[in-house]
Amino acid sequence: MLAVFASRTDADNPLSALEVGERPDPEPPDGWTTVTVKAASLNHHDLWSLRGVGLPDDRLPMILGCDAAGVDEDGNDVIVHSVVASDGWRGDETLDPKRTLLSELHQGALAERVAVPKGNLVPKPEALSFAEASCLPTAWLTAYRMLFVKAGVKPGQTVLIQGAGGGVASAAIVLARHAGLRVWVTSRDEAKQAKARELGAHEAFESGARLPDRVDAVLETVGEATWKHSLRALRPGGTLVVSGSTSGPNPPAELQRVFFLQLSVVGSTMGTRDELAQLARLLETSGIRPEIDRELPLADAGEGFAAMAAGDVFGKIVFTP
Ligand SMILES: NC(=O)c1ccc[n+]([C@@H]2O[C@H](COP(=O)([O-])OP(=O)(O)OC[C@H]3O[C@@H](n4cnc5c(N)ncnc54)[C@H](OP(=O)(O)O)[C@@H]3O)[C@@H](O)[C@H]2O)c1
Repeated sequence: MLAVFASRTDADNPLSALEVGERPDPEPPDGWTTVTVKAASLNHHDLWSLRGVGLPDDRLPMILGCDAAGVDEDGNDVIVHSVVASDGWRGDETLDPKRTLLSELHQGALAERVAVPKGNLVPKPEALSFAEASCLPTAWLTAYRMLFVKAGVKPGQTVLIQGAGGGVASAAIVLARHAGLRVWVTSRDEAKQAKARELGAHEAFESGARLPDRVDAVLETVGEATWKHSLRALRPGGTLVVSGSTSGPNPPAELQRVFFLQLSVVGSTMGTRDELAQLARLLETSGIRPEIDRELPLADAGEGFAAMAAGDVFGKIVFTP
């Protein structure tokens, strides 16, 4: 089958390790099933994988991709939950120390077919296209959990979302606006600021700009480049939720600010299968939809990877096999 994969990794030039070609069909073990992929979306995770982050050489070759929507062996339209818990794990699978995402230990979703545990399937609402549904399992689920599970925000409060153009950030803008929050965003790019306003942001600022007021919560995926600004933007007692560090993982800790202002710094990763099902229902009942930057044939995946590596993306890139 056609797949997007890595048979080596390259920390400095990840795109050079990208391959598009034939890979063997999945052979699902007991309790797993094969999903025929109708759409699969790209995440920054796939670039990290090509760099070798979370993907050691002994697991290669590896099909990339965490996110897919398709049809299961019984003909049901499904969304694939990417977090695979270890055997026997009970409870929140994101807290399983041995959990992996598709493409880390098990072959990934950027392919014509993908094997997944049967329990990882979520029914796809009819109202969502396969392309829209394929955007949910990583970026949208992460934004959902950051906002509704970790940030502890209420309607009427203000949230700052850093790096408006990213997959997680653009999802968070739509979700936060729908939830009745005042939504402020930053972006380095004026066109992305304008796009963020169109998506629902009340205000869009230049990255690092002085804000008119303090905010109740910040959603952070950019990391080093925006961390200081995030902590400075918070009101006393406010919450910074972090799920990514695209620009680097080691920002200044700003400890005095954290303890004097009694800030909460909260980590967040992906979400549970139940949260993915709730998210799918939210999109079905609200009419809100993922912002899709572009849809490409799987065979042209390189174009999508290059756009993400260059930061030339607003929303999600979707591949169709
Ligand atoms: N923990 C999890 O479960 C989880 C899930 C999903 C993603 N993530 C992580 O979250 C991060 C975001 O991923 P993504 O797929 O949403 O998008 P992404 O392609 O990594 O983009 C994030 C945004 O960061 C901003 N940015 C990048 N470098 C910057 C810099 N030097 N200065 C200021 N802004 C910068 C850009 O915004 P502007 O161009 O608008 O300024 C960009 O659109 C990644 O690191 C990813 O690995 C983690």
